[in-house]
Amino acid sequence: MIDKIKELIAEAEAFKAQSKEEVEAFRIKYLGKKGLLNDYFAEFKNVANEQKKEFGQTINQLKKTAEDKVNALKEELESKEEVKGIYGDLSRPGEPIELGARHPISIVKNQIIDIFSRIGFNVSEGPEIEDDWHNFTALNLPEYHPARDMQDTFFIQTDPDILLRTHTSSVQVRYMENNKPPIRTISPGRVFRNEAISARSHCFFHQVEGLYIDKDVSFADLKQTLQYFTTELFGKSKIRLRPSYFPFTEPSAEVDVYWGLETETDYKMTKGTGWLEIMGCGMVDPNVLENCGIDSKEYSGFAFGMGIDRIALLLHQISDIRLLSENDVRFLEQFKSAL
Ligand code: DAH
Repeated sequence: MIDKIKELIAEAEAFKAQSKEEVEAFRIKYLGKKGLLNDYFAEFKNVANEQKKEFGQTINQLKKTAEDKVNALKEELESKEEVKGIYGDLSRPGEPIELGARHPISIVKNQIIDIFSRIGFNVSEGPEIEDDWHNFTALNLPEYHPARDMQDTFFIQTDPDILLRTHTSSVQVRYMENNKPPIRTISPGRVFRNEAISARSHCFFHQVEGLYIDKDVSFADLKQTLQYFTTELFGKSKIRLRPSYFPFTEPSAEVDVYWGLETETDYKMTKGTGWLEIMGCGMVDPNVLENCGIDSKEYSGFAFGMGIDRIALLLHQISDIRLLSENDVRFLEQFKSAL
């Protein structure tokens, strides 16, 4: 019988448990009222006298081993639970770190800023809620000027003087009012027009305005700057300037980039001509300079304005402008590898 008890001691020593339930079952088996130890203690009186001492010592040893084991396992499991409470299951594999993506508008805007900053243009900003002076009047568009209808405007109902800016040209005015020439600045921002929403146009979109004011600035400077820009952004240096009209520039032009016909699969992009219109520009009208406190006899300059959204659609082969404001992650995730 003593050998049997020694076996039980070895078993108890080797016992391992993963849960409190297993520890409890172990405790009941050895130390419970109807457990093994009580059976052996009851057996004590039947043991031959000369064996009593060894028998007694052995069952005491079994008792101590079982008790120590129960205490040790309980402590171990409790400390594990504490850790789990704070950190979760430490044996699980790590969470993958999700990479975000820049919005295509930001990607293209940053590219444009980067290109112009290399030739000395800084970045300026103005408010989206504007007054009539900065959006229209100072830009040579006095009240009742027919060209105001070129841009369907959202007015603030209670105050006809306050509106959502229809173009970033308003920032030109603010910049000239607050800075002395030489001026070289680009102004990216969001603009608003009361237009029907479709795949090609939206009631809000983004523009970058450019302004260069100094002594003796010529139309040739404008053309050279734009040629540098299109080469950097599109990898295309062939441009053409078509005469146009904007109230704030004289002369005014529209800029086309020669895109070629290789990508003209659906006839939509350049309508079979190979030329793509990308911006408006011109020499700043002397009236605008004077409205902003700059002496038009001493200074001249050029300005240009382009839509970021359309360029983003073009560069990233996006078919619908509405995708740019819907924030569908399945769309946005596709720009992870872009700049
Ligand atoms: N503000 C014009 C628009 O919204 C774009 C523009 C054209 C800006 C000619 C200019 C410019 O600075 O010179 O359509």
